[in-house]
Amino acid sequence: MNGLTIVILAAGEGKRMHSRQPKVLHPLCGRPLIAYPLRAARTVADRVVLVVPPNAEGVRRVVGADVAVVEQRERLGTGHAVLEARSACGAGPILVLPGDVPLLAAATLERLVNHHLATGAAATVLTATVDRPQGYGRVLRQGGRVKRIVEDRDATDDQKKIQEINTSVYCFDARRLWPALAEVRPDNDQGEYYLTDVVGILARAGARIEAVAVPEAVEALGVNDRKQLAAVAAIQRGRILDRLMEAGVTILDPATTHIEDTVSIGADTVVYPHVVIEGDSAIGSDCVIGSGCQLHASRLADRVTLKPYCVLSEAVVEEGATLGPFCHLRPASHVGARAKIGNFVELKKSRIGRGAKVPHLSYVGDATVGADVNVGAGAITCNYDGVAKHETKIEDGAFIGTNASLVAPLTIGAGAYVGAGSTITKDVPPGALAVSRGQQIVKEGWAARRARRRATPSD
Ligand code: UD1
Ligand code: CA
Repeated sequence: MNGLTIVILAAGEGKRMHSRQPKVLHPLCGRPLIAYPLRAARTVADRVVLVVPPNAEGVRRVVGADVAVVEQRERLGTGHAVLEARSACGAGPILVLPGDVPLLAAATLERLVNHHLATGAAATVLTATVDRPQGYGRVLRQGGRVKRIVEDRDATDDQKKIQEINTSVYCFDARRLWPALAEVRPDNDQGEYYLTDVVGILARAGARIEAVAVPEAVEALGVNDRKQLAAVAAIQRGRILDRLMEAGVTILDPATTHIEDTVSIGADTVVYPHVVIEGDSAIGSDCVIGSGCQLHASRLADRVTLKPYCVLSEAVVEEGATLGPFCHLRPASHVGARAKIGNFVELKKSRIGRGAKVPHLSYVGDATVGADVNVGAGAITCNYDGVAKHETKIEDGAFIGTNASLVAPLTIGAGAYVGAGSTITKDVPPGALAVSRGQQIVKEGWAARRARRRATPSD
C-alpha cells in the first residue's frame, strides 16, 4: 500500500513478564505473540521491518523471510529502536507498531494510513479512550489538536486524569520522522529516547499532527505482564469462536471452549462444552466433538464422531470413524474410515484399517491393523520387551479374542482367529485359529465335596 513500511518494535526487555522467554514468543491462542502484529502488518504494508534485541534467534525463527530483521544492540528506548530500523525503511510513509499489541486489526491500520495520507499530516497517532489509562502515555491536546504525548511516569497529576491514551501505533511522513528523531533527548524518568517525543517536536515546529481513534478500545490492549496476556487471550479466543460460528460451526458453550487460532473446522460440525483444540489441527464437516475432548495437532476428516473425553495428539482420523468415550490417541495414530475405537483404548504409532473395531479396554502400539479386524475387549499388543519396541501386524478381517496378549514382533494373517485369553508369541497364518491357554478342567461335584471337607473338624 503506497510504498508503506511498517516497523514493529520488539526489542523491549519484557521485564514485567518475569520470564526466561522473550515476551513476543509467549503463546497467544496457539501462535507466538509476535505473529499477530506480523499478520496485520503483512496485510497492509509493502515492507515489514522487525526490531529485535541481540541474540533473538528464537524470534528470527518464527519470522518469515519476507520480513527485514534489525537488531537494536542497546535498549535505549522506542525512539532509538525506530532509528536503528532506518536503513531497512523505504521512502514512503512509515507506520510504527509495538510487538506486544496483538489485537490490532489490519483494517484499523489501513484506516490510520488512509487518514494520514488524506490529511497530509506529518504524524498521525492512533489513540484510544479508556477507563483506566494508568501506565499508558497520555495524549495532550491544545485547541483540539494533538500537541504532545506524555508518559505516565512523567505526567503531572492533572495529566494523569486524561483518558485518551497513545496506543503506540503511529504513521509518519518519513521526511519529517528522521530529522525529528535526531532531536529526541533522553531527558525523562527512564533516561530513554522516547518515540513519543517526536510528536511534540513536530507539533512545536508547526507540523500537522492528526489522531485517529481505535474503533474498539480492546484493540489497543498491550501485553506487558501475564495478567494482560490472559486478558488478551480471552478476547482473542472469543474472536476465534466468532469466526468459526460465522463459518457454520456450532459451538454449544463458547465460555468453556478453547480453540486455538491455528485450527480449522468445517461447517455443521458441533462442538460440545469443555473442548480444547490446539495446534495445527483440522476438523472436517459434520463432525461431533463431545464434551471434554482435547485435541492437539490432529486431523479429523468429515463425519467423525468423538464421544466425550477423547484425547488426541498428532493423530489422523478418517471419514465416518467413531471414537470414545475415553480413548487416547497418541502421536502417529491413524484411524481408518468408519472404524470404531471405543472406551479406554490407547493407540500409539498404529494404523487401524477401515471398518476395524477396537471397542473396549485395549492397548495397540506400533501396530498395523487391517480392514474390518475385530479386536476383542482387553486385547493388547505387547510391543516392548524392556529393551526395544517391536511391531505387530494384524491382517484384514482377523479376529482377536478378548484379553489376548499379542507379543511382538508378530503377524496375524488375514481372516485368522486368536482365541480369547491367548498369549500369542508366534505368527498365525491366514485363516488359522491360534489358541494358547491352559486346558480347562471340569471337576463335577467339587464344590459339595469341598464343603463337606470343611465341615469335618481336623485336629
Ligand atoms: C509505550 C509508549 C506509551 C504507550 C504504550 C502503549 C513510549 C515511550 N511509550 O509504552 O506512550 O501508551 O506503549 O502500549 O513509546 N521497545 C524496543 N526497544 C526499546 C524499548 C521498547 O524495541 O528500547 C519495544 C518493546 O519491545 C515494545 C514497544 O517498543 O514492543 C513498547 O515498549 P514498552 O516498554 O512496552 O513501552 P510502554 O511502557 O508500554
Ligand atoms: Ca508495552
